[in-house]
Amino acid sequence: MTIIRSQVLGLGAYLPSTILTNEELARRVDTSDDWITERTGIRSRRVAAQGEMTSHLAHNAALAALSNAGVKAEELDLIVVATTTPDETFPSVATIVQARLGMTRGAAFDIQAVCSGFIYGLAVADNFIRCGQAKTVLLIGAETMSRLMDWTDRTTCVLFGDGAGAVVLRAAECEGTSADRGILTTQIYSDGRLHDLLYVDGGPSSTQTTGHLRMQGKEVFKHAINNITSAVHAAAEAAGVSVNDVDWFIPHQANQRILDGTAKKLGVPGSRTISTIAEHGNTSAASVPLALATAVADGRVKRGQLLLLEAMGGGFTWGSALIRW
Ligand code: ACO
Repeated sequence: MTIIRSQVLGLGAYLPSTILTNEELARRVDTSDDWITERTGIRSRRVAAQGEMTSHLAHNAALAALSNAGVKAEELDLIVVATTTPDETFPSVATIVQARLGMTRGAAFDIQAVCSGFIYGLAVADNFIRCGQAKTVLLIGAETMSRLMDWTDRTTCVLFGDGAGAVVLRAAECEGTSADRGILTTQIYSDGRLHDLLYVDGGPSSTQTTGHLRMQGKEVFKHAINNITSAVHAAAEAAGVSVNDVDWFIPHQANQRILDGTAKKLGVPGSRTISTIAEHGNTSAASVPLALATAVADGRVKRGQLLLLEAMGGGFTWGSALIRW
């Protein structure tokens, strides 16, 4: 019996051109390149130019993904944008991108799961595809996290960056085994009780301002490794594979120590983890597709390999996705 799976037809990435180094940050707040590198692995991050918005980054990543996939905008049934930094409170970034791409049919909407947004987006897109409501979906993770920073708070402003990544997914008939190409499983979770560990202190209904990101870093760190590890095991179990079968772990890029700690807890070599944290920082919902695009472009990820994507973010939200490339 055949089943429908979502296969990645193409992917793309976009980074704003301005590079903000640790040395430059050390001139703004009481920090140092040594502190940031040692505690996080971050050396630099990209920052959107004045007037450059999340929709611009998303649109550029979308154009790259459509071109890479050989798919035209009019073939899309659905655009999903994972973002926590929309241009405006409404309408969604997805509808802005829809208009810029010239897509006049189907639907477009944003989803909000902060750093887990791309994993949540994969779950949403995959479910739309598998139930037959969409055949071709453009999924984008795009963020201008620089706009949520309190640039006087050294505990947060050194961590984040701006960017976007996108994939084009299409329904394909498969055998229904773990040897199939495409998304084998997605696992998503949340625990709203942990709000105070990571949040933004503003919003349209509370302060009528955008607010700034606030975080209890040590607490977030502790939860991250445990939650991500259990989501990875859940994905492997659901797909009937072993964690040791995974060729590449493509994690949300929050902190190199979280990536190393997760690999250690999973008992897999750190050399199987794709890390782009040094040059991207934490780009929230954009970090997983940016890391994926990097590893595909440099040839590490090869057709047929098993990829485990995972993330955790504010909410808390977390999750994983297992993809046969
Ligand atoms: N430069 C220099 N000193 C700093 C800086 C900085 N940028 N930031 C904090 N410090 C100081 C603190 O004030 C503290 O000083 P004190 O001892 O005099 O009080 C000292 O450094 C140690 O601070 P800690 O918070 O204990 O440092 P820690 O080793 O925990 O590292 C960090 C902080 C990097 C935030 C870490 O906890 C972390 O990465 N946590 C995960 C959070 C995360 O990744 N969040 C992203 C969003 S959620 C997600 O994506 C999973």
